[in-house]
Amino acid sequence: MVQTMYGVPRPDPIGYLGQVAATGPGRAYKTYALAALELRPGLTVVDAGCGPGTDLGALADAVTGTGSVIGVDHDPVMLGEARRRTAGRAGVEVRAGDAQALPVADDAADRARADRVLMHVAEPARVVAELRRVVRPGGLVALTEPDWDTLTVDPGEVETGRAFNRFVCGSMVRHATIGRRLARLAAEAGLEVVAARVLAPTLSDFATADQVLGLRRNAERAVNTGELDAEAARSWLAGLAGPHFSASFMLYAVTARVPG
Ligand SMILES: C[S@@+](CC[C@H](N)C(=O)[O-])C[C@H]1O[C@@H](n2cnc3c(N)ncnc32)[C@H](O)[C@@H]1O
Repeated sequence: MVQTMYGVPRPDPIGYLGQVAATGPGRAYKTYALAALELRPGLTVVDAGCGPGTDLGALADAVTGTGSVIGVDHDPVMLGEARRRTAGRAGVEVRAGDAQALPVADDAADRARADRVLMHVAEPARVVAELRRVVRPGGLVALTEPDWDTLTVDPGEVETGRAFNRFVCGSMVRHATIGRRLARLAAEAGLEVVAARVLAPTLSDFATADQVLGLRRNAERAVNTGELDAEAARSWLAGLAGPHFSASFMLYAVTARVPG
């Protein structure tokens, strides 16, 4: 485990995804995203960028043993963990592949989703096109992505917070503001948007927010690259670590139907 300047261990990717899903806001948005798919027994659902299988169990519960769940990811470590978690679960299959070229046949699924995946891929529009391709006409596609330019924290110097967001959006996340584009991406892929919601996950515990949002580790990176003044970062973080902390950001959730 590598310690950073501010003494924060960098989380391992699997542990990090588990932490996010276990927070109150994490559970709340995942409950919403699952309900948006209108799953029922017997359906087939594709989870593109399934990670360590965070949601495969819940998807399998919803479609029951008469349905199918296909998780796809390109990361061997994630695939290994997803397979370990779902071993022995009837109807669950984990496939290696690129979300931009899904290893799933045309019209093979009733539902497809991508949860916090588009922000990381080279061409988000290709993923949306793939989700549409694999879902039969009349089926649903659900997308959830944050918009990291909307992160607000309090207390703390507003200008330092803006500089932090600029660094995260410019250097840390490939498509950091994809959330606001989700509904347009779905429409441009020929999908009929049936719901476009903005959720506002809010964290009131600094330690949890620090883990989930990387406040200290990304501030350290920004200082190291000269994009954040060291004293401004120190003062900002000291203020955030005090009482009455809050952090929130916009998380966009779009549900869309495949026409026909
Ligand atoms: C932030 S994680 C989200 C994982 C999971 N959906 C969840 O909510 O916990 C993003 C996942 O997308 C995967 N991913 C990124 N780019 C991908 C690509 N081009 N094809 C397949 N998976 C990809 C990563 O390996 C990672 O597991």
